[in-house]
Amino acid sequence: MDNAFLKMPNRIYLGENLLGHLGDFIAKKENKNVLLFTDNGLMKSGLVQPIEDYFNKNNISYEIESEIKPEPTYIQVDELLKKVSKFDFDTIVAIGGGSVMDAAKLISLVLHTDYSIKDLIDDPTKVSKRCSTVLIPTTTGTGSEATINAIVTIPEKDVKFGIVSDEMLPDLVLLDVNNVKTLPKSIMASSAVDALSHCVECYTSKNATVLSDGIASLGAKNIFENIIPAYEDADNMDARKALLLGAFYGGVAITASGTTAVHALSYPLGGKFHIAHGVSNAILFKQVMEVNKPDIADRLASLCDFVFPSEGSKSVDEKADFMIAKIAEIVKKVEIPTDLKKFGVKSDDLDFLVDSALQQTRLLDHNRRKLTREEVENIYKSVM
Ligand SMILES: NC(=O)c1ccc[n+]([C@@H]2O[C@H](COP(=O)([O-])OP(=O)(O)OC[C@H]3O[C@@H](n4cnc5c(N)ncnc54)[C@H](O)[C@@H]3O)[C@@H](O)[C@H]2O)c1
Ligand SMILES: [Zn+2]
Repeated sequence: MDNAFLKMPNRIYLGENLLGHLGDFIAKKENKNVLLFTDNGLMKSGLVQPIEDYFNKNNISYEIESEIKPEPTYIQVDELLKKVSKFDFDTIVAIGGGSVMDAAKLISLVLHTDYSIKDLIDDPTKVSKRCSTVLIPTTTGTGSEATINAIVTIPEKDVKFGIVSDEMLPDLVLLDVNNVKTLPKSIMASSAVDALSHCVECYTSKNATVLSDGIASLGAKNIFENIIPAYEDADNMDARKALLLGAFYGGVAITASGTTAVHALSYPLGGKFHIAHGVSNAILFKQVMEVNKPDIADRLASLCDFVFPSEGSKSVDEKADFMIAKIAEIVKKVEIPTDLKKFGVKSDDLDFLVDSALQQTRLLDHNRRKLTREEVENIYKSVM
């Protein structure tokens, strides 16, 4: 058996009313000043106020920064870095989706140094963490609270880019189910499909190990079983909690093995056409799995055995088809577009998309099937 390795955040709490754990964490710090990092959508949702109330009640001094844009460019994160560098703090508490958490992770690496976020894109290996990070996810998707990645858009190349550093693992994660109560149904659905793609891609990745398999299969089960109930009944908090946990497992799985071709082909769609990350993954998910199938049928079948044991009598090929059909059914039932028509993508854009996707070697190298240019082109064509 090959050796396996798993990296995880230092402490993780799941449940409700978890702010006491945050208080305990800050109490142990010498400098108790906090940067409370979030976005304007979260400010409006009312989810930040309880943290402010907690800080005020417990005499924890904080500055708040909420100007981060969804799916930010590295330039936008660099601007925020300059702004928050004026504050004196030792801990960043980031509450939000992947956009907020990724920006907070990046800032924690270069705060009060000569480095910029742009420098991290060029070489993330020379930095170490400059302040503690507490990550509180509010979407059911990215698992950024558990990953060593942060994704930024590079506008001059019209593409998204993953900066990778072990130093990004947070010190504390709070998975509070109340934070996903206000999540609009459409964002809940697309972010959960993102998390499902993390689990399925990691399970079928060339780098999968027994450790990543265990985590990815648990995440996949949580999401397969709960995404439609959560979508159909906004008050089904058990289903939302299962998705929040599934998304976290997806993040751990990414750190253990890594996503593959769905994400590689998705990055240019996010970078140039600003399609939300979960939506672009959802559009590509089924098509990529179908093209990958000759090389991953056994993996899809073993995931099927775990998630859908009642399908046990099917052949490997039938189980793989069943999993791909399930993915397509979910995307349809949660009403995510299944093609690129409404996003202004034209056949003239095909060469850009293919060239750009083929440059995502960090992800494509993990794909069990070595995709040809023609296969990548055909995947895009099939969703145009
Ligand atoms: N670091 C990683 O490992 C990783 C993995 C996957 C994706 N990502 C990145 O994460 C970003 C996407 O993150 P996301 O899908 O979580 O969405 P997001 O952070 O961009 O948030 C989307 C919108 O939802 C709102 N929102 C979030 N939570 C809410 C809540 N509970 N109630 C009301 N509104 C809420 C936000 O204000 C925002 O307007 C992309 O840039 C993607 O590339 C990172
Ligand atoms: Zn993703």
